[in-house]
Amino acid sequence: MNIAIDGPAGAGKSTIAKLAAKELSFIYVDTGAMYRAIALFMLNNKVDVESDDALQAALNKIDIVIAHEDGAQQVYLNGENVSQTIRKEEVGNMASKVATKGPVREKLLDLQRGLAASHDVIMDGRDIGTNILPKAELKIYLTASSDVRAERRYKELAEKGETPDIAKIKEDIEARDYQDMHREIAPLKQAEDAVLIDSSYMTIDEVVEKIVGLAKSI
Ligand code: DC
Repeated sequence: MNIAIDGPAGAGKSTIAKLAAKELSFIYVDTGAMYRAIALFMLNNKVDVESDDALQAALNKIDIVIAHEDGAQQVYLNGENVSQTIRKEEVGNMASKVATKGPVREKLLDLQRGLAASHDVIMDGRDIGTNILPKAELKIYLTASSDVRAERRYKELAEKGETPDIAKIKEDIEARDYQDMHREIAPLKQAEDAVLIDSSYMTIDEVVEKIVGLAKSI
Protein backbone atom coordinates (compact mmCIF):
# COMPACT_ATOMS: atom_id res chain seq x y z
CA MET A 1 0.00 0.00 0.00
CA ASN A 2 1.20 3.51 -0.79
CA ILE A 3 0.25 6.69 1.04
CA ALA A 4 1.23 10.04 -0.52
CA ILE A 5 1.49 13.16 1.63
CA ASP A 6 2.09 16.44 -0.16
CA GLY A 7 2.00 19.99 1.06
CA PRO A 8 4.02 23.16 1.59
CA ALA A 9 7.21 23.49 3.67
CA GLY A 10 6.63 23.46 7.39
CA ALA A 11 3.14 21.96 7.40
CA GLY A 12 4.41 19.12 9.59
CA LYS A 13 4.53 16.46 6.86
CA SER A 14 7.66 14.68 8.07
CA THR A 15 6.77 14.64 11.79
CA ILE A 16 3.30 13.34 11.01
CA ALA A 17 4.33 10.89 8.31
CA LYS A 18 7.00 9.40 10.59
CA LEU A 19 4.49 8.79 13.40
CA ALA A 20 1.81 7.44 11.07
CA ALA A 21 4.38 5.11 9.43
CA LYS A 22 5.29 3.73 12.85
CA GLU A 23 1.67 3.04 13.75
CA LEU A 24 0.98 1.37 10.43
CA SER A 25 4.36 -0.46 10.25
CA PHE A 26 5.07 1.25 6.93
CA ILE A 27 8.36 2.71 5.73
CA TYR A 28 8.57 6.49 5.79
CA VAL A 29 10.17 8.03 2.71
CA ASP A 30 11.12 11.71 2.85
CA THR A 31 11.63 12.77 -0.77
CA GLY A 32 12.60 16.32 0.19
CA ALA A 33 15.76 14.82 1.70
CA MET A 34 16.75 13.56 -1.75
CA TYR A 35 16.43 17.05 -3.27
CA ARG A 36 18.35 18.39 -0.29
CA ALA A 37 21.19 15.89 -0.87
CA ILE A 38 21.48 17.05 -4.49
CA ALA A 39 21.39 20.68 -3.29
CA LEU A 40 24.16 19.98 -0.78
CA PHE A 41 26.38 18.60 -3.54
CA MET A 42 25.73 21.72 -5.66
CA LEU A 43 26.56 24.03 -2.75
CA ASN A 44 29.68 22.11 -1.68
CA ASN A 45 31.02 22.07 -5.23
CA LYS A 46 29.89 25.60 -6.11
CA VAL A 47 28.02 24.33 -9.16
CA ASP A 48 26.31 26.95 -11.31
CA VAL A 49 22.89 25.27 -11.41
CA GLU A 50 21.64 27.74 -14.01
CA SER A 51 24.06 26.24 -16.54
CA ASP A 52 22.49 23.11 -18.08
CA ASP A 53 25.91 21.58 -18.80
CA ALA A 54 27.29 22.22 -15.34
CA LEU A 55 24.09 20.86 -13.77
CA GLN A 56 24.16 17.69 -15.86
CA ALA A 57 27.88 17.12 -15.24
CA ALA A 58 27.27 17.44 -11.50
CA LEU A 59 24.25 15.11 -11.57
CA ASN A 60 26.40 12.47 -13.27
CA LYS A 61 28.70 12.53 -10.26
CA ILE A 62 25.90 12.15 -7.69
CA ASP A 63 24.89 8.83 -6.18
CA ILE A 64 22.07 8.90 -3.64
CA VAL A 65 21.22 5.91 -1.49
CA ILE A 66 18.29 5.77 0.94
CA ALA A 67 18.56 3.39 3.88
CA HIS A 68 16.34 2.78 6.89
CA GLU A 69 18.18 2.34 10.17
CA ASP A 70 16.06 1.70 13.30
CA GLY A 71 13.06 2.92 11.33
CA ALA A 72 14.66 6.29 10.51
CA GLN A 73 15.51 7.27 6.95
CA GLN A 74 19.19 7.89 6.30
CA VAL A 75 20.43 9.62 3.16
CA TYR A 76 23.82 8.81 1.71
CA LEU A 77 25.40 11.18 -0.81
CA ASN A 78 28.27 9.43 -2.59
CA GLY A 79 28.72 7.10 0.38
CA GLU A 80 28.56 9.78 3.07
CA ASN A 81 25.64 9.98 5.51
CA VAL A 82 24.36 13.56 5.06
CA SER A 83 21.06 13.18 6.96
CA GLN A 84 21.97 15.93 9.44
CA THR A 85 23.84 18.37 7.16
CA ILE A 86 20.93 18.61 4.70
CA ARG A 87 18.64 20.11 7.37
CA LYS A 88 20.29 23.55 7.14
CA GLU A 89 18.14 26.44 5.92
CA GLU A 90 20.44 27.27 2.99
CA VAL A 91 20.28 23.65 1.80
CA GLY A 92 16.45 23.79 1.89
CA ASN A 93 16.43 26.95 -0.19
CA MET A 94 18.85 25.45 -2.73
CA ALA A 95 16.73 22.25 -2.79
CA SER A 96 13.69 24.30 -3.81
CA LYS A 97 15.79 25.87 -6.57
CA VAL A 98 17.27 22.64 -7.99
CA ALA A 99 13.81 21.01 -7.75
CA THR A 100 12.68 23.28 -10.61
CA LYS A 101 15.14 21.51 -12.96
CA GLY A 102 13.87 18.63 -15.11
CA PRO A 103 17.09 16.55 -15.01
CA VAL A 104 17.10 16.70 -11.20
CA ARG A 105 13.50 15.48 -10.95
CA GLU A 106 14.13 12.73 -13.51
CA LYS A 107 17.10 11.47 -11.55
CA LEU A 108 14.96 11.03 -8.42
CA LEU A 109 11.83 9.61 -10.04
CA ASP A 110 13.03 6.00 -10.37
CA LEU A 111 14.47 6.00 -6.86
CA GLN A 112 11.14 7.15 -5.42
CA ARG A 113 8.97 4.82 -7.50
CA GLY A 114 11.30 1.90 -6.78
CA LEU A 115 10.95 2.34 -3.02
CA ALA A 116 7.15 2.53 -3.32
CA ALA A 117 7.01 -0.58 -5.52
CA SER A 118 8.93 -2.74 -3.06
CA HIS A 119 7.51 -1.56 0.30
CA ASP A 120 4.40 -0.29 2.05
CA VAL A 121 5.35 3.38 2.14
CA ILE A 122 4.21 6.73 3.40
CA MET A 123 6.03 9.09 1.07
CA ASP A 124 6.06 12.83 1.59
CA GLY A 125 7.00 15.60 -0.79
CA ARG A 126 5.40 18.02 -3.25
CA ASP A 127 4.40 15.91 -6.26
CA ILE A 128 3.90 12.44 -4.80
CA GLY A 129 0.12 12.23 -5.27
CA THR A 130 0.09 14.16 -8.54
CA ASN A 131 3.14 12.75 -10.30
CA ILE A 132 5.24 10.09 -8.55
CA LEU A 133 2.50 7.78 -7.23
CA PRO A 134 -0.70 8.76 -9.07
CA LYS A 135 -2.23 5.40 -8.06
CA ALA A 136 -1.47 5.72 -4.34
CA GLU A 137 -4.32 4.19 -2.33
CA LEU A 138 -4.44 7.22 -0.05
CA LYS A 139 -3.43 10.80 -0.82
CA ILE A 140 -3.24 13.57 1.73
CA TYR A 141 -2.65 17.26 1.09
CA LEU A 142 -1.39 18.61 4.40
CA THR A 143 -1.26 22.35 4.83
CA ALA A 144 -1.31 25.10 7.46
CA SER A 145 -1.39 28.90 7.26
CA SER A 146 1.97 30.61 6.68
CA ASP A 147 1.58 32.40 10.04
CA VAL A 148 1.22 29.11 11.89
CA ARG A 149 4.08 27.52 9.96
CA ALA A 150 6.35 30.50 10.69
CA GLU A 151 5.41 30.33 14.36
CA ARG A 152 6.26 26.61 14.55
CA ARG A 153 9.61 27.15 12.87
CA TYR A 154 10.33 30.08 15.17
CA LYS A 155 9.70 27.93 18.26
CA GLU A 156 11.87 25.13 16.87
CA LEU A 157 14.81 27.51 16.35
CA ALA A 158 14.28 29.33 19.65
CA GLU A 159 14.37 25.97 21.46
CA LYS A 160 17.77 25.37 19.87
CA GLY A 161 18.98 28.63 21.43
CA GLU A 162 18.84 30.69 18.22
CA THR A 163 17.31 34.18 18.05
CA PRO A 164 15.26 34.01 14.87
CA ASP A 165 13.37 36.84 13.17
CA ILE A 166 9.78 35.63 12.69
CA ALA A 167 9.01 38.10 9.89
CA LYS A 168 12.02 36.81 7.93
CA ILE A 169 10.98 33.19 8.57
CA LYS A 170 7.49 33.91 7.22
CA GLU A 171 8.96 35.67 4.18
CA ASP A 172 11.21 32.65 3.44
CA ILE A 173 8.30 30.22 3.84
CA GLU A 174 6.14 32.24 1.44
CA ALA A 175 8.98 32.55 -1.08
CA ARG A 176 9.52 28.78 -0.97
CA ASP A 177 5.76 28.12 -1.36
CA TYR A 178 5.71 30.39 -4.37
CA GLN A 179 8.71 28.68 -5.98
CA ASP A 180 7.36 25.17 -5.31
CA MET A 181 3.83 26.00 -6.54
CA HIS A 182 4.75 27.98 -9.64
CA ARG A 183 7.48 25.91 -11.26
CA GLU A 184 6.77 24.40 -14.67
CA ILE A 185 7.54 20.78 -13.84
CA ALA A 186 5.52 18.90 -11.22
CA PRO A 187 4.52 21.93 -9.14
CA LEU A 188 3.08 21.54 -5.67
CA LYS A 189 -0.69 21.24 -5.87
CA GLN A 190 -3.43 19.20 -4.30
CA ALA A 191 -4.25 16.07 -6.30
CA GLU A 192 -7.95 15.89 -7.25
CA ASP A 193 -8.42 12.74 -5.18
CA ALA A 194 -6.38 13.92 -2.17
CA VAL A 195 -7.90 14.49 1.26
CA LEU A 196 -7.19 18.04 2.43
CA ILE A 197 -6.03 18.41 6.03
CA ASP A 198 -5.36 21.88 7.41
CA SER A 199 -3.24 21.34 10.51
CA SER A 200 -3.25 25.03 11.59
CA TYR A 201 -5.42 24.32 14.62
CA MET A 202 -4.86 20.59 15.05
CA THR A 203 -2.37 18.81 17.29
CA ILE A 204 0.16 16.41 15.81
CA ASP A 205 -1.68 13.47 17.38
CA GLU A 206 -5.00 14.55 15.88
CA VAL A 207 -3.51 14.69 12.39
CA VAL A 208 -1.76 11.33 12.81
CA GLU A 209 -4.97 9.74 14.07
CA LYS A 210 -6.91 11.10 11.12
CA ILE A 211 -4.41 9.71 8.58
CA VAL A 212 -4.08 6.33 10.32
CA GLY A 213 -7.90 6.11 10.48
CA LEU A 214 -8.20 6.85 6.77
CA ALA A 215 -5.50 4.26 5.95
CA LYS A 216 -7.18 1.58 8.04
CA SER A 217 -10.54 2.22 6.40
CA ILE A 218 -9.19 1.31 2.95
O1 DC B 1 10.25 19.01 2.21
P1 DC B 1 11.59 19.73 2.17
O2 DC B 1 11.57 21.09 2.77
O3 DC B 1 12.68 18.87 2.73
O4 DC B 1 11.90 19.88 0.59
C1 DC B 1 12.95 20.68 0.11
C2 DC B 1 12.62 21.17 -1.29
O5 DC B 1 12.64 20.08 -2.21
C3 DC B 1 11.24 21.79 -1.47
O6 DC B 1 11.25 23.19 -1.25
C4 DC B 1 10.87 21.46 -2.88
C5 DC B 1 11.64 20.24 -3.20
N1 DC B 1 10.83 19.03 -3.28
C6 DC B 1 10.18 18.78 -4.47
O7 DC B 1 10.23 19.59 -5.38
N2 DC B 1 9.49 17.62 -4.64
C7 DC B 1 9.38 16.74 -3.65
N3 DC B 1 8.70 15.61 -3.85
C8 DC B 1 10.02 16.99 -2.41
C9 DC B 1 10.72 18.16 -2.25
